[in-house]
Amino acid sequence: MRVLVTGGAGYIGSHTVVQLVAAGHEPVVVDSHVNSRPSVLPRLEELTGTRIESHGFDLRDADATSALLGEGGFDAVIHFAGLKAVGESGRSPLEYYDNNLGTTFALLRAMGRHGVGTLVFSSSATVYGEQAPVPYREGHEPLVSSSPYGRSKVMQEQILRDVAATGAVRVALLRYFNPVGAHPSGRIGEDPQGIPNNLMPFIAQVAVGRRERLQVFGGDYPTADGTAERDYIHVEDLAAGHVAALDHLRDHPEIRVREWNLGGGRGTSVLEMVAAFEAASGRPIPYDVVDRRAGDLPAFWADASRAEVELGWRATRTIEQMCADTWRWQSANPQGYPA
Ligand code: NAD
Ligand code: UD1
Repeated sequence: MRVLVTGGAGYIGSHTVVQLVAAGHEPVVVDSHVNSRPSVLPRLEELTGTRIESHGFDLRDADATSALLGEGGFDAVIHFAGLKAVGESGRSPLEYYDNNLGTTFALLRAMGRHGVGTLVFSSSATVYGEQAPVPYREGHEPLVSSSPYGRSKVMQEQILRDVAATGAVRVALLRYFNPVGAHPSGRIGEDPQGIPNNLMPFIAQVAVGRRERLQVFGGDYPTADGTAERDYIHVEDLAAGHVAALDHLRDHPEIRVREWNLGGGRGTSVLEMVAAFEAASGRPIPYDVVDRRAGDLPAFWADASRAEVELGWRATRTIEQMCADTWRWQSANPQGYPA
């Protein structure tokens, strides 16, 4: 399949591009580079041994998006492009709604105009909100979220369901848990701009000496060691989940829209992650336990059985592999990608 990968220069998109090529598909990247570097693209060509067609524009440019899809030959779209920082979304809600909904509108219109009928969408466990029973199951309702970022995902899921109901497009809604890790080559990985919001890149930057100490947000949660538990998933497993979803939609034309959790199905605490990273890197991770971060939940993880039964997919990589691969990327690229 010739697959348009929006946000394909970003963290999850870049890893998925490599796996699409390995699976015999032909990915085409479009990315505005609002949160990525064009220098990832030659590395994708190096890893795949093939030329990767790529386009640098903002998907909200409806004419450019339509012109690209109008070139023809596309069988499907994987839509990663979006802004994703929870805290920033509270400070700039309009920017988040505009970008995340606007890219989806432009894409859906262009897909409709040019007869591209298959879409795989990056959703998030954040759509389960604060009340859903753990483990999270796909059938849970209502979908709610506590941040503008999360609400933009809830809204995009709803818009995609409504458009799918008309028969115009068939959609996989993939709800990611906590993606971490990197390609085992160490050539591509997560490269957050500024101070990392998320745990794994922060730990990695402490280990490599870019930051002094980790702050552990909350030591008084009702968990075994008092720190919060999350369902970390290796980005390579996550990328494989996209290939599985794409193949599944192709093989099951009766599906109009379906949600799948992509998670490992178990919780790991902040301190367990710190210990695993110290072991993988051989570096100490000094930390202070500080107050809880507003909006954080004590513990959640996926019920990942639907993806296993229906897609034949499951996360196989361990916490140790997640840390080892993150460390290989971080230590070889201490400042991330070149500008
Ligand atoms: P990322 O920021 O690394 O990748 C997103 C890419 O989209 C970036 O390269 C960015 O430049 C591009 N982009 C953003 N707006 C664009 C626009 N208007 N036009 C063209 N390109 C645009 O993020 P990621 O971690 O790879 O996440 C990919 C998707 O998965 C996002 O939709 C995100 O919300 C979702 N997601 C991520 C996580 C996570 O923890 N990483 C968890 C759940 C869901
Ligand atoms: C966060 C987002 C979530 C998003 C997900 C994507 C919030 C409230 N939630 O989830 O919507 O889908 O990222 O990856 O931002 N931690 C520390 N110190 C740090 C950073 C994190 O102790 O410096 C802790 C957090 O309190 C949390 C755990 O580590 O318990 C994981 O944090 P993080 O990586 O930010 O992910 P989430 O909070 O699960």
